[in-house]
Amino acid sequence: MTETPVTPSSLLTDQLWSSSFLKACRREPVDVTPIWLMRQAGRYMAEYRAIRSKVSFLELCKRPELATEATVTAALRLGVDAAILFADILLILEPLGLELEFAKGEGPVIHNPIRIAADVDRVRPLGDMAALDYVLGAVRLTREALPAATPLIGFAGAPFTLACYAIEGGGSRHYEQAKAFMYRDPGAWSVLLERLADATAVYLNAQAQAGAQALQVFDSWVGTLSPGDYRRFAQPHMARLFGQLDPAVPVIHFGTGTAMLLELQRDAGGTVIGLDWRVELDLAWQRLGHDVAVQGNLDPVVLLAPLEEIEVQARRILDQAGRRPGHIFNLGHGILPQTPVDNVRALIELVHSYQPRF
Ligand code: CP3
Repeated sequence: MTETPVTPSSLLTDQLWSSSFLKACRREPVDVTPIWLMRQAGRYMAEYRAIRSKVSFLELCKRPELATEATVTAALRLGVDAAILFADILLILEPLGLELEFAKGEGPVIHNPIRIAADVDRVRPLGDMAALDYVLGAVRLTREALPAATPLIGFAGAPFTLACYAIEGGGSRHYEQAKAFMYRDPGAWSVLLERLADATAVYLNAQAQAGAQALQVFDSWVGTLSPGDYRRFAQPHMARLFGQLDPAVPVIHFGTGTAMLLELQRDAGGTVIGLDWRVELDLAWQRLGHDVAVQGNLDPVVLLAPLEEIEVQARRILDQAGRRPGHIFNLGHGILPQTPVDNVRALIELVHSYQPRF
């Protein structure tokens, strides 16, 4: 029996299909380069801080009406070409059996991290979406509340990046516990990453079904691996994840510090490859080949600079893209909390009004 693909066709209206963002994902020409920004709904924005003054970060994620408000307010205030679901890559760890807390001023903490091979047995498969139903509620409500032509991006963390958090128990500089685990016990590492990949596939397909028109997989910390280690310890699990996703839904494959991994990331999967500022966009795209789209790649710190500098740097990126179909403008990583909102708005206007010089 052949399975019919799970295309959320009822939610993919003509207006959404012909949005500049989804056209760029499909590498079709657009009049104006689409732009959205990672962490566009975040602490740099007064409206976000007002919502957060009433509830904790986790509560905000778990209340669909508040998550919707965070996403929609940011998208409207900025005039971006796509909105991103308000959630966090670590939420999926809770139903898998890890105790997650966002401690004040410390970032995420896992109270029962995975430290030895036997701990992998406590990682439960994600049987269904019951425990993450609030995320799907936020997808549905956000889809309804957004302007009809603004695509909604769902997202999840990549197996490697999630494993880093699950093993380290929080953020880390060198990921030494996660990498030591991987070298010491490659079998248990594999089982762990397969479980994370399978759970993430269920989660992402459910977000697309609930109303997300595109998905982004965040492999934020994978740049810590050598190419050989990426091939052994991350790539097979990324391929396993991408292989289970609905092929009708565009997926952005994002990482940072991955200048030496780009071809391997492309081979693992994804419709669009996320680039950070440590690579030249044109050279990276050439290396990847022009049958994938690219997203990026302004350094978020440039948004703290004077407007003239922002303009020079944004122009350089747009010139490098050279109006080739398939470029989505973004930062190379999330907006920093100290970023002035006016600079973000100015960047968006610059991108929307860009005219090549020649
Ligand atoms: O606007 C958006 O981009 C959508 C929402 C979003 C958040 N986190 C909200 C958030 C997305 C897409 C994420 C992804 C995420 N979460 C990643 C991958 C992207 C990246 O930055 O590399 C990672 C690694 C996380 C884990 C995480 N969540 C950390 C390390 C932290 C603490 C660091 C910090 O900035 O405080 C969070 C908290 C978090 N996630 C905040 C937001 C808006 C700040 C929480 C607050 O309000 O205090």
